[in-house]
Order: sequence, then C-alpha cells, then structure tokens
Amino acid sequence: MASEILERLFSLKGKTALVTGGYKGIGRAVAETYAEAGAHVAVVARNLHGCEEAAREIAGKYGVRTVGKSLDVSDSKRVDGVVQEIAGELGRIDILVNSAGIPGSEKPVLKMTDADIDEVMNVDFRGTFLVSRAVAQVMVRQRGGKIINVSSILGKIAARNMAGYCASKAAVIQLTRVMALELARDNIQVNALCPGYVLTEFNRDFFASEAGKGLVKRMIPLNRVGTLDELRSTALYLATCPPFLTGAEVYVDGGHTLI
Ligand SMILES: NC(=O)c1ccc[n+]([C@@H]2O[C@H](COP(=O)([O-])OP(=O)(O)OC[C@H]3O[C@@H](n4cnc5c(N)ncnc54)[C@H](OP(=O)(O)O)[C@@H]3O)[C@@H](O)[C@H]2O)c1
Repeated sequence: MASEILERLFSLKGKTALVTGGYKGIGRAVAETYAEAGAHVAVVARNLHGCEEAAREIAGKYGVRTVGKSLDVSDSKRVDGVVQEIAGELGRIDILVNSAGIPGSEKPVLKMTDADIDEVMNVDFRGTFLVSRAVAQVMVRQRGGKIINVSSILGKIAARNMAGYCASKAAVIQLTRVMALELARDNIQVNALCPGYVLTEFNRDFFASEAGKGLVKRMIPLNRVGTLDELRSTALYLATCPPFLTGAEVYVDGGHTLI
C-alpha cells in the first residue's frame, strides 16, 4: 500500500528532466533524485567534463538514460540549439530545473561596477529566462511540463553586499509567476524553489568561521544551515505536483525568512 501511493504520486518513470548546473551542488542532488525516481536526465553547465562524468555516474547508479553537455546558460546563441538537441536525444523534456547560478561579486552598491551587475544578472536571471523560454516552447508542443526555478531566500529578504544576487533572484521569482500565468492553459506549471543557506563546497569554510556561526545563530531559527538532502523531497514534489500548484514560491530555509 505504502509503495503504491509513493509510486502513484512521486514516480518519474518514463519522464525526462533537464537540470542546469546539474553536475554538482543543488543541481546534482536534484538530478540524482529525479534519476532515482525513474527519470531520464540531462545535465548542462559550462564544465563539459563535469557534466559528462555526472551523466555517466547517474546512468550507472540508477539505470536511466542520461545526457551531459556543455552550455553557458547566458549564451543566447547556443541555448535554443542545445535545448533542441536534448529534446531530440531524450525524446521530450517533461521537467526543467534551472539551478545554474553564481553569487556574483560581493560589494556594496556604491562600489559595484557595471560589469559586476551584468555578470550576475546575465547568469542568474537572464540564463534562467533563456533556458525557460527555449524549454517552454518544447513543452507547449508536448502539451505539458513542469519548470522549477531555483531562486533563494535572497529573492525575498535583503543582504548587504549582494544587490546583484538579491535582485536577480527576485527577478527569477517574478519570471516564475508571469510564466505560470502565461503557460497555465498549456498545462505547464512553473514554481520556484527558494533554498536558505545550504552547505556546499563553496560556503563550507564561511559557515565554519566565527562570522558564519554568528549569522546562523542570529538569522536561522533552526540554528543550523541546511543540507543538500533536505532539498530533495521538495524538488521531487515540485516535479510531480498536481497541475493546480503553479506560480508558488516554496521556501526551504530553516525558518530564515520568518525573521
Ligand atoms: N548553496 C546555497 O546555500 C544556495 C542557497 C540558495 C540558492 N542557491 C542557488 O542554488 C543554485 C545552485 O547553487 P549551488 O550552491 O548548488 O552552487 P554550485 O555548487 O556552485 O553550482 C552551481 C552550478 O551552476 C553552474 N553554472 C554557473 N554559471 C553557469 C553558467 N553561466 N552557465 C551554466 N551553468 C553555470 C555551475 O557549473 P559551471 O561553473 O561549470 O558552469 C554549477 O554546476 C544557484 O542558483 C544558487 O544561487 C544556493
């Protein structure tokens, strides 16, 4: 009985998913979760070797079909072509997760250069837009699909020295809402997954430092950062959610946005 309901509600058997930034960090955890639930998976990022290796490892571990390709999500000349190639190789794209992202330069606004703001907006916002637009065209033809945009608590709350990142993640939330509105009648659901601080190789040193420990104590009601594992079930839920769930922001943040 328990396995029947899990199978009915959460199986991705026969589905295909594209995960940007999918060879490491949050994207990798999501790609592995979807493969474990039965989906064929494509991972893209700039690092071709990382993507190919992840594709090989995921296929070996879960017995699904995988594709690993190099793509800079901000490269408007390549995004449409690579998305078409993946749709051709996997047959369709049922789920898109936009996880590719960078923190950008950490500076106060008064010191921020044009290049600083362009860099983060180009990847975190424009990249999400370009890939979503290309995949949505595939999904319209298929008459359905799910798009999951990885935003952040910093799309909602402010952090000093992070204007570009905060603005781009807020823009991702509004893009999510507008696309959910426009694509509702094409049976495409668009939702945002908004993690709080989750331990990855990049922030491990910071959260081990006194400044990091102080931030956790002051700002996170749960009194700790999250783990990649704690995002898996929400990512799976958003990939299998009922059509009636669209345009939502789901915060997985230890209560960070409560205070
Ligand atoms: N970790 C956290 O605490 C946290 C919290 C909230 C939100 N997030 C968001 O979650 C997402 C994943 O973060 P993460 O912590 O997993 O970071 P990560 O481990 O650094 O992974 C980022 C991924 O994005 C890819 N990427 C970066 N720039 C790209 C580009 N121009 N084109 C294609 N791929 C690109 C990277 O690969 P390449 O460098 O090879 O391209 C990498 O695969 C990001 O959007 C981040 O803003 C993270």
